[in-house]
Amino acid sequence: MTLQTANAPEARSGLVARFDLARDIAQESGTVALDYFRRRKELTIEVKGGLQDVVSIADRNVETLIRERIAAAFPDDGILGEEHGLEESGSGYTWVVDPIDGTSAFVHGHSNWCVSIALLYKGDLAAGVIRVPCDDETFAAMTGAGATLNGMPLKLDASMTLQNSLTGIGANHAIPPERVGALISGLMAAGGNYIRTGSGAQMLAMVAAGRLAGFHEPSMHAWDCLAGYCLVSEAGGRYRPFPVNGEAILESGPVLAAGPGAFEALSALADEGEHPGTR
Ligand code: IPD
Ligand code: CA
Ligand code: CA
Repeated sequence: MTLQTANAPEARSGLVARFDLARDIAQESGTVALDYFRRRKELTIEVKGGLQDVVSIADRNVETLIRERIAAAFPDDGILGEEHGLEESGSGYTWVVDPIDGTSAFVHGHSNWCVSIALLYKGDLAAGVIRVPCDDETFAAMTGAGATLNGMPLKLDASMTLQNSLTGIGANHAIPPERVGALISGLMAAGGNYIRTGSGAQMLAMVAAGRLAGFHEPSMHAWDCLAGYCLVSEAGGRYRPFPVNGEAILESGPVLAAGPGAFEALSALADEGEHPGTR
């Protein structure tokens, strides 16, 4: 959505209603997920793409709950969720949902996982909400209205750099391990240091909150990054666009976002990792 379109009164009221719903759903589904987390020893863990890529009934049922809440309020909206696929939109709005981002962390008893809910309007980012139940934190942003953490405004500090702050680096088995090594060594050679939680979406929220200078992962999906991108952008940071038109929304691609003082440097490191020796 262009800002003009987003700010048209009729579009704005539809968006505000959905943003309110997104925060309610994130809270409710986060509570349900937290209950599964506390009973995680009872869950059957299924392997998806390999032993490092797992899922459980918690992921599926939390996504089902989110879908039911959206469909009850806005039956013509589209929904893309990691676990149950894409339903096309009849209204122009598409919700992009990761019911549990950080499933590996979740099943192994680490607290850093979250519910991630993004909203697109005609292909443009309109809102993003990330709920981290174990920390009782809700990050929320709507295009043109700023970003908040538990209701407090977030504003990025341009003095944060790769050198004076931590940088989030994510990785999965879709990319060669050497590339992860090159990214981390490039960052450390530049005087920075890396950190990783179990959840890329949570790390993007941490960028928006000024806890990380930036975040990069070479291969992720729309449901991993779009809510975090809205948060970072509304907090005053920058991101590399993720293609969402047509079938592209189902594909994986690089994810990168950072505060204004670290974006160029992190982008250069990511490019160097993708095409070694080109700088
Ligand atoms: C994963 C997490 C992880 C990242 C992976 C993602 P999931 O999502 O965000 O931090 O490294 O690339 O797939 O599978 O836990 O929803
Ligand atoms: Ca995910
Ligand atoms: Ca997930």
